[in-house]
Amino acid sequence: MLKRPQEEESDNNGTKKLKARLTYPCILGKDKVTGKFIFPAITKDDVMNARLFLKNNDLKTFLEYFLPVEVNSIYIYFMIKLLGFDVKDKELFMALNSNITSNKERSTSIEVSAVQAKVEHEGELTDPLEKKHAVKLIKDLQKAINKVLSTRLRLPNFNTIDHFTATLRNAKKILVLTGAGVSTSLGIPDFRSSEGFYSKIRHLGLEDPQDVFNLDIFLQDPSVFYNIAHMVLPPENMYSPLHSFIKMLQDKGKLLRNYTQNIDNLESYAGIDPDKLVQCHGSFATASCVTCHWQIPGEKIFDNIRNLELPLCPYCYQKRKQYFPMSNANNTIQTNANFNSPILKSYGVLKPDMTFFGEALPSRFHKTIRKDILECDLLICIGTSLKVAPVSEIVNMVPSHVPQILINRDMVTHAEFDLNLLGFCDDVASLVAKKCHWDIPHKKWQDLKKIDYNCTEIDIGTYKIKKQPRKKQQ
Ligand code: OAD
Repeated sequence: MLKRPQEEESDNNGTKKLKARLTYPCILGKDKVTGKFIFPAITKDDVMNARLFLKNNDLKTFLEYFLPVEVNSIYIYFMIKLLGFDVKDKELFMALNSNITSNKERSTSIEVSAVQAKVEHEGELTDPLEKKHAVKLIKDLQKAINKVLSTRLRLPNFNTIDHFTATLRNAKKILVLTGAGVSTSLGIPDFRSSEGFYSKIRHLGLEDPQDVFNLDIFLQDPSVFYNIAHMVLPPENMYSPLHSFIKMLQDKGKLLRNYTQNIDNLESYAGIDPDKLVQCHGSFATASCVTCHWQIPGEKIFDNIRNLELPLCPYCYQKRKQYFPMSNANNTIQTNANFNSPILKSYGVLKPDMTFFGEALPSRFHKTIRKDILECDLLICIGTSLKVAPVSEIVNMVPSHVPQILINRDMVTHAEFDLNLLGFCDDVASLVAKKCHWDIPHKKWQDLKKIDYNCTEIDIGTYKIKKQPRKKQQ
């Protein structure tokens, strides 16, 4: 049976209504004066409805419902926009824009021309774009469709902080996914923010700053990593209120698992059980020789890292010396290697067991995630841009009925969370704990719990959370 796009979403539990504004098939009008196609404004609800319709029906039904019988490239672009995407190719974008006008300043003469366009439509509809552009657009539409089909949709009745706290109180198997943002309040930079680690190393002149964690590059030249490794060396024995918030969930028997992308191991200082923790990108806890795979405790190479030296494997050292005889101190970062040598500069070098780009994630990740996604009853993602796969795919692997919450300073636009709580994660955690009448086991809690927070709803299911300024004493 054909499932129509939602006209209105039910209003149970105070949930906001969704209203479809556009009617389909949407005939695009033409501006009388310029001859450009008039693009209707597409609202978030229009996008949501189109996505829902696509998910609930097959592709043929979807296209038949939304498109008129005769279409040209402009209609294909309209479908891409209606699904909430845009084209990235600059040339294509310019070609489209020279044929499209928005309907923001819709005039009566334009309304009339829309009717004329309908008449024209029944005749022959010409394509204003070149064939190469039309082909690109069809590929982009296919990508958009695939993305929608593989991305979850928001739950209709879950979009307020009260929904979250009510679920949190009853939840028994919470999956918490964390990233660098949970440690920034301790002075540890994240990766991709403007003040983040990748912007701090821009001066190195790497094509992509992520190359410092690229396995191929490490094998070719470990000095690329060891020149900056001291900057990511984890501090000891400190943890943020957010780490303690996760510990609190563990103490209440609610934590299924904390999947962390962080290599700083601060979760363990906060008291999170090793069994409850998956370090998706490994950690500095151990280091291994890239040649013979001999493994040692990570702290044994910390001095080398601080002194900008290459940590070398004692078992491979003699051979390395033969390969690099010109080096008077074989572990200085700038190895005097023979550049024509077929032997990689990383021969016999120890590497922390953190996951580099191009390297498989620890087997523990794959073992636990398969089971955990089927068991979890709530997913909370905290302090991550969700830019790195396969961890970023967790949000699309969790069954669609499980509520998903984002606690982050910035919005993550490529995922569909039921609730986005935007702000500093320590603040959001304090607000949530206070609402649940729970105590966070952190030394700062007595101060934190005195703070009041402003929660401003900026969109359905999206709140900005900020500390309320303290009232001045009279
Ligand atoms: P990113 O730097 O990509 O994202 C951190 C996110 O945290 C950003 O969206 C910030 O807005 C947010 N954030 C920063 N401080 C915050 C705070 N106090 N409260 C709330 N949010 C805050 O870091 P990750 O997503 O963790 O991989 O990066 C994933 C992976 O990319 C890392 O594990 C690392 C990196 O390349 C490896 O090292 C292999």
